Amino acid sequence: MTTTLPSGRQFAPEFLWGSATASYQIEGAAAEDGRLPSIWDTFSRTPGKVLNGDTGDVAVDHYHRVAQDIEIMKDLGLQAYRFSIAWPRIQPTGSGEVNQAGVDFYVDLADRLIEAGIKPVATLYHWDLPQTLEDEGGWTNRRTAELFADYARIMAEALGDRIHLWTTLNEPWCSAFLGYASGVHAPGVTDDEAALKAVHHLNLAHGLGARAVKEVLGEDTPISITLNTHVTRAASDAPQDVEAKRRIDTIANEVFLRPVVEGVYPPEVFADTAHITDWSFVRDGDLEIIKVPLEVLGINYYSTGRVQHGTPVTGDGEPGPDGHKTSSHTPFVGATEVEFLPQPGPHTAMDWNIEPLGLTELLLDLSKRYPELPLAITENGAAFYDTVTDDGRVHDVERTSYLHDHIEAVGQAMDQGADVRGYFVWSLLDNFEWAYGYDRRFGIVHVDYDTLVRTPKDSSRWYADLIRTRTIAPVEG
Ligand code: FCB
Repeated sequence: MTTTLPSGRQFAPEFLWGSATASYQIEGAAAEDGRLPSIWDTFSRTPGKVLNGDTGDVAVDHYHRVAQDIEIMKDLGLQAYRFSIAWPRIQPTGSGEVNQAGVDFYVDLADRLIEAGIKPVATLYHWDLPQTLEDEGGWTNRRTAELFADYARIMAEALGDRIHLWTTLNEPWCSAFLGYASGVHAPGVTDDEAALKAVHHLNLAHGLGARAVKEVLGEDTPISITLNTHVTRAASDAPQDVEAKRRIDTIANEVFLRPVVEGVYPPEVFADTAHITDWSFVRDGDLEIIKVPLEVLGINYYSTGRVQHGTPVTGDGEPGPDGHKTSSHTPFVGATEVEFLPQPGPHTAMDWNIEPLGLTELLLDLSKRYPELPLAITENGAAFYDTVTDDGRVHDVERTSYLHDHIEAVGQAMDQGADVRGYFVWSLLDNFEWAYGYDRRFGIVHVDYDTLVRTPKDSSRWYADLIRTRTIAPVEG
């Protein structure tokens, strides 16, 4: 793939440039210093769930290589680093006593980042729920949301003012629907009602967690949530296809956006899912809790989708046209008559189509709906099957082109009025890509999974240049 959008744009000095990772995907040290299993430890050990039987036991051993990894970030000139905290390191069974060694790890990480001049951006939940909580129903159990607030409070007390931006949850859509409906993510449940309960309890956890952090650190503490708002288009103007798109928008985006930003559920969702649940798990007062003023809304963007009236595509683990692994159950609960269509290329190694202007469209749409709500791209990036060549380098020109075009797409949205505050590349390091294990590489830094040696890819040098000059350089090669 080559670039499709112009080079040369310059960004303002206050625009924040960073990179993102997540605890289970990079840390390893799965059974060290008091950490107990999360749902991903259990899931990855279940035969057939993760490609090649890969697990996060070692991952890229970031837990023991923090110093080296921060040196890499420093060399790249990163201004911010978005990481996640592993709840099972902090409270190994999800409640009760605090595991001081786990807390110390993140305090030390934040201190080292600050020392290196890098702003810590902390996500409290990037999918590694303590297994003990899952044994009691996980996100289908309201108590998990209440316990999340206790955990958030512990971290606010420990990290204090070190954190530039707190993020409660990463992509609750994946936790709820890939976790409990299609079951291609941990905990691997396929139960539509469970998924809808999980939606609400995740939203509630966001509200309770954000409020706990603010209680400890003050009302002005910057809070965010990261959503993977889907950009979906109808295959035609036919009313049935338009309705298919509406169903996806509702169950993929609106069930999170509207409660979090507006304090309401989209009324359509009750009709769409009436055959599944009466939503009596939503209690009086919950929506007021969920709506918390946000400093920014975090957006993760990778690709787009296209739908028509039809039958959901199911299958047996191969990538489906919605960009996720197929299963016997669709993740789009209530969208009973919606068929995802294959998207034209180019595609990344995830089979996700590359469409930078989908990001422009998304940012403009959100900023028109919520003009007062600043946005940040908390993840964007591309997987390819990179290799280190004889010259000792990784010539990942396709990834660089992807970044080039998507960053320009952000700029184009800003030209048209979107208030975007920052951009984080997914990911700093190659890592454990959930159900795909270590097969597909997202890093701007290559990791040899045998030796754990880190090799910055060409894309990281291009990105470092962008941060230094604030200008989108053409992609060579
Ligand atoms: C997002 C996840 C992140 C990573 C990227 C590729 O859905 O938040 O952990 O796996 O996709």
